[in-house]
Amino acid sequence: MTRRFGLALALAAAFAAAPAAAQFPTRPVTIIVPFAAGGPSDAIARLLAVKMGERLGQQFIVENVAGAGGTTGAARLARAAPDGHTILIHHIALPAGASLYRNLPYDTAGDLVPLGLVNTGPMLLLGRREFPARTGPEVVARMRAERDRISMAHAGVGSNSHLSTLLLQQALDVRLSEVAYRGTGPAMTDLIAGHVDLLFDQATTAVPQIRGGAIQVYAVTATERLEVLPDVPTTAEIGLPQVVFTVWHGLYAPRGTPAAAVEALHGALQVALDDPQVRTRFAEVGTTVFPAAQRTREAHARIFQEEIVRWREVTQRAGVRPE
Ligand code: MLT
Repeated sequence: MTRRFGLALALAAAFAAAPAAAQFPTRPVTIIVPFAAGGPSDAIARLLAVKMGERLGQQFIVENVAGAGGTTGAARLARAAPDGHTILIHHIALPAGASLYRNLPYDTAGDLVPLGLVNTGPMLLLGRREFPARTGPEVVARMRAERDRISMAHAGVGSNSHLSTLLLQQALDVRLSEVAYRGTGPAMTDLIAGHVDLLFDQATTAVPQIRGGAIQVYAVTATERLEVLPDVPTTAEIGLPQVVFTVWHGLYAPRGTPAAAVEALHGALQVALDDPQVRTRFAEVGTTVFPAAQRTREAHARIFQEEIVRWREVTQRAGVRPE
């Protein structure tokens, strides 16, 4: 056997022995979106799917698994084969859900592997176009006066839109008529059609509708105004300083996913988030990519665990009983 032939054999043997995950991904990757199509989580996932797919040389497919405030989609991920070919995009509803649902079929703290944080941004308090309140103070006065005669859409118990609604109701000490949807995508459709009065939604999907004049906007749930909507007051400016709410999205894989697949997905996410097209698109709709120091998997894991504790405390203080 020549030296060259021997070397070729050794190389072939090394490739054959390489673990399957080293070749990840070997087929299309599914991103589970735990809310309906057309909402902010869906919009962010679809942007990432294109860029991560390009990076890893495989198609990334978005699958909407909506229901129960995002917990149905999370349960689907927890049951998926832990090989990196099924991942989940989720937001605060994931850590909050641990305190808001009694019998979740997964362990929030242990069954999901954080792959990295994606974006962060505020919510906007929105109204149907003909709702008889033109300004923040007017909508506050109307909510105080009319209470449950006003309908407030949200995306199910534990969703961002629901948690913002809880904060608002606590701040005003009123109960509005809550209407639950499978995501703020369909809730927004009904707001535009005038079937519901109010909705909290993320800037991501609300900004284009506001610019198009399809809906009204009253306030942003941040301590500073949004650059893309400089005329919209903060909740503090309209007398609701308690209603400050910041959304963040992250990606997750099921527990047991091989390290090589986890690293490949984390790396592809970083490339997607540094893509100028993605950053411009995010900026246009008032949401921000996390700074580099917070984009490690460790930072995501830390924030995720902290949020589980924080929401447990918030819901206990508020006396919210799990569903
Ligand atoms: C959605 O994508 O529909 C939203 O993220 C739901 C929400 O949490 O309000």
